[in-house]
Amino acid sequence: MRLASGHVAVQLEGEELAKIQRDFEGYRKGLVRLAPGGWVLPAPYPKYADKLYNTKFRETDVVIMTYPKCGTTWTQEVVWTMRNNPNLDHPKASAPISVRSPFIDSDMLMAMGKEGSTSLMSEFLKGVVPDPDPNEGIALQLTAHTPDPRTIKTHLPFSLMTPDLLDTTKVIYVARNPKDVVLSFLHHTRFMKNISYVGSLEQFVDYFVNDQLIYGPYWEHLREAWPRRDHPNMHFVFYEDMKADPMAELRKLNHFLGTDLTEEQLEKIVQYTSFEEMKKHEQDALQGKNMATFVNEEVVKKDGGFYRKGEAGGWKDRLTDMQAAKIDAWTKKNTLDLGINFKYSI
Ligand code: A3P
Repeated sequence: MRLASGHVAVQLEGEELAKIQRDFEGYRKGLVRLAPGGWVLPAPYPKYADKLYNTKFRETDVVIMTYPKCGTTWTQEVVWTMRNNPNLDHPKASAPISVRSPFIDSDMLMAMGKEGSTSLMSEFLKGVVPDPDPNEGIALQLTAHTPDPRTIKTHLPFSLMTPDLLDTTKVIYVARNPKDVVLSFLHHTRFMKNISYVGSLEQFVDYFVNDQLIYGPYWEHLREAWPRRDHPNMHFVFYEDMKADPMAELRKLNHFLGTDLTEEQLEKIVQYTSFEEMKKHEQDALQGKNMATFVNEEVVKKDGGFYRKGEAGGWKDRLTDMQAAKIDAWTKKNTLDLGINFKYSI
């Protein structure tokens, strides 16, 4: 199937799909791979692809673009708060981040799960979208009806979004060390019921470096973003820098976003968006009666939920030397031409 972006989407099949579906029990509907780029996405992606590609953004929008598990939610909360809640007194600040800051390409993920998850998400549309149509993509409708200034999340790479994105809109790209990403992603795929990964860490590392995980190839995602780093509408954030000195990163964001917040406001936002604070809010959400529709509660009890560890460098305790070496070799191969100042070059 040819898409408006010029890519061709082909369903995964044969032994590759059979193996993936044994390890990812939630992928009953399968996956597609796009050419060029090799992008792996949930099977329902083509249904939404052209709408996503043709979405026009506004000058007042900020798009947060990342490969999964790079600290998207943290950055969303920081940016949404800086723009909408600088004095921490917004009456709707405790609403889920996915309602305040829509995840534009999440319809295909919801369509992978049981029907219940879509109807539960439809609840979010009530009061936001005047005449919601669940068939038209909940996240797409939520995005369209979110009042300005919108802070929009996407895991899609540049080539699957409108080509004039940076001409009109500010983009914040968040990157994270792939050795921490792989562990965070492993956890995510285990506790999210619409994925339900049941394989080993060893196999998961192989899926990662073989570019078979959704939204990958990881390096292709970064390689599309990195050359755009000096564009005036583009801002790069590294998870490790946010961890090491959040105040310095918020100052840079303050400049990039033109939010003009004081040092005192920024300090309060650093506190408000710390791992510990954000985790507290998640605990309230996880106790919500509908959470069992989305998450495997046993995994959450044992290993945590969306807020797992919130560390940089945690891979040193979990990956074997062989696994780390495999990721390093793959990193080296993919970063040779990214430039000597690229953070994860080895
Ligand atoms: P870990 O699984 O390593 O703990 P995303 O939002 O892109 O899915 O990324 C999730 C990762 O960001 C998780 O990493 C999560 O714990 C971490 N994270 C979320 N909020 C954070 C915060 N306020 N400070 C530090 N890390 C945070």
